[in-house]
Amino acid sequence: MVISAGEKTLIRDSWAPVYAGDRFQIGVNVFTNFFKAYPAYVDLFPSLRGVSNPSGSYQLRGHAIRVITGINYFVDALDEDKSIVDEMLNNMARSHKPRGLTREQFAQFAPVLFDSIGVSGAARDAWMKYYNKIADGLFAKMAKL
Ligand code: HEM
Repeated sequence: MVISAGEKTLIRDSWAPVYAGDRFQIGVNVFTNFFKAYPAYVDLFPSLRGVSNPSGSYQLRGHAIRVITGINYFVDALDEDKSIVDEMLNNMARSHKPRGLTREQFAQFAPVLFDSIGVSGAARDAWMKYYNKIADGLFAKMAKL
């Protein structure tokens, strides 16, 4: 699945203000919204299990920083060769495999992520395509571990 030059521009241009803004708070919002929609999923995250108010916790901010920075790696890597993206997916597979996640959970996360970072229209379609490429690649790598 090839991401076109136009789609890359849409992704970069919509991500730039997010990453230049209050990105870690936006990351906290992403997960606060995710857990509002799927309360049971808090338990998937070892660092949040048993935390009484995850939204306002230092644990969630720490997690949000890791994930927002992780998304930024993939935006930065839009022009990298497949072998490099494969290496990044292998790395992500090693950190996510032990969590026992499902592809469905990744599908559920996508609209919450896009709503929370405020992407719509053609930019959202481009994001969805790239997100699905990453998620499909991740699950293919996890299956081989
Ligand atoms: C493009 C999307 C995503 C990116 C870039 C991403 C990135 C990351 C990063 C960088 C970490 C930290 C890894 C480490 O410290 O070793 C992490 C941990 C984790 N991620 Fe993701 N993630 C994504 C999507 C998801 C989704 C959709 C779920 C679940 C529905 C998920 C579940 C987890 C869990 C359970 C952890 C461990 C958290 C903990 O230690 O408490 N991730 N993720």
